[in-house]
Amino acid sequence: MIDYRRQGQLPPKPHTVFRNDEGGLYYEHCFTTVGFDGPFSVLYHKSPPQSLRFGTGCEPCWDTAAAGGGNESLRRRHYKTAQAGTGLSPMTARVPLLVNSDMTMGIVHPAASDTDYFANGDGDDVFFIHRGGGELRSWFGRLRFESGDYVVIPKAVAHRFILDLTEQVWFWMECRSTIRIPSQYRNHVGQLRMDAPYSHRDFRSPELPPNEAIDLDFSDRLYTKRGDRFTVHQTSDVFLDTIGWDGTVYPFAFSIHRFSPKTGQVHLPPTVHGTFATSKSLICSFVPRMVDFGDGAIPCPYPHSNVDVDEVIFYSAGDFTSRRGIEAGSVSFHPAGVPHGPQPGAYEASIGVLRVHELAVMVDTFEPLRPTRAALPMEVADYDDSWQTNPMSL
Ligand SMILES: [Fe+2]
Repeated sequence: MIDYRRQGQLPPKPHTVFRNDEGGLYYEHCFTTVGFDGPFSVLYHKSPPQSLRFGTGCEPCWDTAAAGGGNESLRRRHYKTAQAGTGLSPMTARVPLLVNSDMTMGIVHPAASDTDYFANGDGDDVFFIHRGGGELRSWFGRLRFESGDYVVIPKAVAHRFILDLTEQVWFWMECRSTIRIPSQYRNHVGQLRMDAPYSHRDFRSPELPPNEAIDLDFSDRLYTKRGDRFTVHQTSDVFLDTIGWDGTVYPFAFSIHRFSPKTGQVHLPPTVHGTFATSKSLICSFVPRMVDFGDGAIPCPYPHSNVDVDEVIFYSAGDFTSRRGIEAGSVSFHPAGVPHGPQPGAYEASIGVLRVHELAVMVDTFEPLRPTRAALPMEVADYDDSWQTNPMSL
């Protein structure tokens, strides 16, 4: 939820008669969260949205099984994700790398548009578009996205991705706790504060195309996911026939390049880079910025033990010299209980630096993550040794 938005035609009052030019009724679709107590939207369809039929049955979901049966040792890890599989659509190409009971994180290298619709009943999906672009089509309309965008799809919104004909590399987070704006960025009426790192204008929401259906060229299948199982439903050819909606629940996009970073006299903790939050995680944006300006300030992050969170970073672009061996597309995983920080030489070398040019997404999770079987072959074996001044295996 960013703010209240509206699109298309709406009756003056919810839950009242709303007719088309021929006298037929439009069908209301209340899309609610936290039962009926949380943020909601109300959509209006030409035909009943509940006219789905159970189709060909259930299918297993993405493989989130733990590597080593969950008995993998606790160490700092680095994954080079370029070898994650491709050739599939965004719904089917997801490769989970790290999971806990609240979040699944992974990499997506889609090579084809979705032909089917998908509604994820297990959580909000957040995609960081490292490379690529396209259009998200959903009950709420069409939403264009580009490289550098976060694309956020609320739980259970039926959607599909239409991809541009270019390389697509996405970092993906399925969040079972609802994605929200960190509460410190809101004033007492819910407006984004003037000292927040973004404004309402930075968030893009779907638009309903005038006088045409949202999407006519799709299969008649809707995949739903709940409890990490896919179920396939048959839909009608007027499945995406929304003529209006309003409310606070809808897909949206936000470009990481619109995030306004903060700099301090001395190094500020990563929470100043907070972009999205759930009750059990914080998603941060590291963008090019001036660094700490005080006399004697050390701009490089201090070595730290952030004892209540596991930390994951997806490296997108820029200079990652404080991390040995990191490249664009790398994912690092630093579990709580293991101190981490700059690698040998980086701390000292940062003194006097004026700017950093990094572009990365960091996720702090309050529940322990475990690597999946798919993550194992992507792991750089000697990463944990890279903090040693005289590493045994480097
Ligand atoms: Fe950290």
